[in-house]
This record gives sequence, C-alpha cells and structure tokens, in this order.
Amino acid sequence: MSIFSKEEIARFRDETKGTQYVIHLNNAGAALSPDPVVRAQMDYLEREAEIGGYEVNREKKEELDRLYMIAASWLNCNSGNIAYTDSATTGWLRAIYAIPFQSGDSILTSEIEYATNYLSYLHLSRQIGVQIRTIHSDQYGRVDLNHLEDQLDESTRLVAITHVPTNSGIINPVEEIGNMLKGRDTWYLIDACQSAGQVPLDVQKLNCDFLSVTGRKYLRGPRSSGLLYASDRALSESTPLTIDLHSAEWTDAEDYEIHSDAQRFEQWEQNLSGKTGLAQAIDYYLNAGSKTVFNTLVHHAKLLRNQLQQMEGVSVYDAGGEQGGIVTFDPNVDPVQLKEQLSQHAFNVSVSPLSSTLLDMKRRGYKDLIRASVHYYNTEEEILRFAEILEELIRNQR
Ligand SMILES: Cc1ncc(COP(=O)(O)O)c(C=O)c1O
Repeated sequence: MSIFSKEEIARFRDETKGTQYVIHLNNAGAALSPDPVVRAQMDYLEREAEIGGYEVNREKKEELDRLYMIAASWLNCNSGNIAYTDSATTGWLRAIYAIPFQSGDSILTSEIEYATNYLSYLHLSRQIGVQIRTIHSDQYGRVDLNHLEDQLDESTRLVAITHVPTNSGIINPVEEIGNMLKGRDTWYLIDACQSAGQVPLDVQKLNCDFLSVTGRKYLRGPRSSGLLYASDRALSESTPLTIDLHSAEWTDAEDYEIHSDAQRFEQWEQNLSGKTGLAQAIDYYLNAGSKTVFNTLVHHAKLLRNQLQQMEGVSVYDAGGEQGGIVTFDPNVDPVQLKEQLSQHAFNVSVSPLSSTLLDMKRRGYKDLIRASVHYYNTEEEILRFAEILEELIRNQR
C-alpha cells in the first residue's frame, strides 16, 4: 500500500496556504483548497470585474466546459452524463424527484442516511405514498448485504445508499450493491458527497443510475459547487421535476424539449468561478493520484483512532472494518465547548449532531460527536499534537 512520503506531503502543504495557520481536521466539512483551485476562481472573478459577467462567461467557455471532460474522466463516463450543481443536495434532490415513483413503491436505504436524504424519503412517503425500508447494518455499521437481498422485491423502486456517512469512517459496499441490482429495473442512487475525493470512484463499476458529489469536502474544491452523474438510463427513463430555459428548450406555444444530456439536471444561473475551481480541484486530485490519496488518509485516520482508543473515557464511534478518513468520537465532555477550546489551539474540527444520522445515532445510544476528519495533506505530527492537546482539554473539563 503506497502512501505519500513526508516530502510529497510537504509539497502539497506548500501549495495549501491554510496549512500555515491551522491544523485542519475538518475536511469532511470543507477542506482547505490548494492554491491552483483558489487561483482559478480569483482569476475568473477578476476577469468578471474587468469585462462583465456575461462577457467573461463567453470568453472562458472552453475553460468552463473542461469541467465536464475532467469529471467524466475521473468518474469513467461521458461528459454528457455530468451535470454541474451548486451542492450535493441539489444534485441528489434533482435525481430522486426525477424517479417515476408510484404509490406503494418502496425505497430501500441504509441506517446511516444523511438527514436530508431521509427527509426526502419521508416527504415522498407523505406526498406519494412510497414505503421506506431501512436495511440492517452489519457488525461494522455497513449495509448488511444479506438483509438487502432479502428485502429486494417487486415493490422496490429505489435503492438509495450513502457511500460514506457524514459522521464516520464507514465505507458502504456500493459496488457489491450495484452488482446485486444488475438485471433489475430498480433505480440505484448513491450519495458520494463524503466519499468523492476520498475513496476512488468509477460509475461503471458502481453500476448506479445517479451519483451526487460536493466540491468543498474531500475534493478540496470551492464551496457551493457539486456534480450529479446521471447514467444513460437515467437520462432516457427519468424526467426532471422542474425545468428552466437551460435544462429545456421552449419550442412552441404548446411545446418544449428537455435536453437529452445531463444538462437537463442543471439550471441556467451557476457559480461559474466555482466551476473553474472545481475543474482545477479534480485535476489536482487526479494528478496527486486517487489511490495514494486514499491510502494516505486511511493511514492518518488509523493513527488518530489508535490515539483516541487509548484515551480514558473517550469512545470512538466507528465499529471497525475498512475505514476512511472521518473519525468521530464521544469525548464524554461537552463537545461544543471542546470544539471551541480546540479552535483556540488552531485545531479545526466539527460537531456532528444526533440529527445528522438520526437512525444510527439513536440505535447506538450516541448524542453529539466530535468529528475530526483527516486528509492526505495532514501530517503525523499534526495528528499526534492534536491527540495530546485533546487529552489535556478533556482532562481539564472533567
Ligand atoms: C452524506 C452527506 N450527504 C449530503 C450532504 C450534503 O452536501 P451539500 O452540503 O454539498 O449539499 C452531506 C453534507 O455534509 C453529507 O454529509
């Protein structure tokens, strides 16, 4: 398993301004962007100030369109399968509301679903009468494949799975699920918000209909940027719930045509500086090497989990198995106060509230957790220093 050397990490840090000021363990919130990502956005904004927003849009058309090409080469699809969105939520909602549900259909989902996703199932249940069925978790908290297979039946219209949850290192077996669904007409939607830029992704292997991504997290891209992958089947057999003059063409007083490619899931007004920044972020990620990125952040997360496991009274939320870079724990002292104290020492972490993954947190008897999400550009020294200060702060709070 190859990981980045200290020299390579030092180079990544040289290209990441924020590493001079903070010890950033909030990569599952919003990662620090590397300089080229920041520069692309600044250049775009400066040009807007110089010649006007519509004018620079025309001038930089090629650069803007590059996002579709680079995203397609990353996810292994065609550029026509990619829609640019302003967040993972927007992409995900466009996808789920495009699926042709009927009363009595069921949605199969995991116990670690993100709040927004589950709220949408509840909303669809109230509006259309779909049934929600949650798949049991295995001993590591991942989707139990046997239970999923048992639950699949004629009523299953959608299997919707969060690849990596908002608040733990769990990596759901999304490829195995995609294989299980081959030959069925069940829709398959993957929330890759927390895995994109962390875990290598290939939509052909995943065999999914839709996959949603955010820019600001592990991809290290701009805020308010995201992507939706829509498969060929999704493009031909689903219909966007809402359309505008960008996703569709008004052809006659009584007629319109919805674009045949993934533009049908976009809207006219877009964060265009963000589009150039997101293209740079994907470029940067691919140049770094997706496998080494993953191996390095897993290595860092393991180091942190080992440190936490040795701390008295601290309970690590992850239950084992293959784990990514999101490390959460119950410090057994007030997490909000602890987060504030950590920030006074320049450590950025976040608090994951009970409501973010209500089903799993309740099931396991947790309330709010501290989330320390590591990336490949963190150093071992930062993690050890974090553990040292954390232990001291927890001791002082008791
Ligand atoms: C698993 C998961 N899905 C979706 C989202 C929403 O992402 P966005 O804020 O880009 O809409 C989040 C945000 O934290 C998340 O953790």
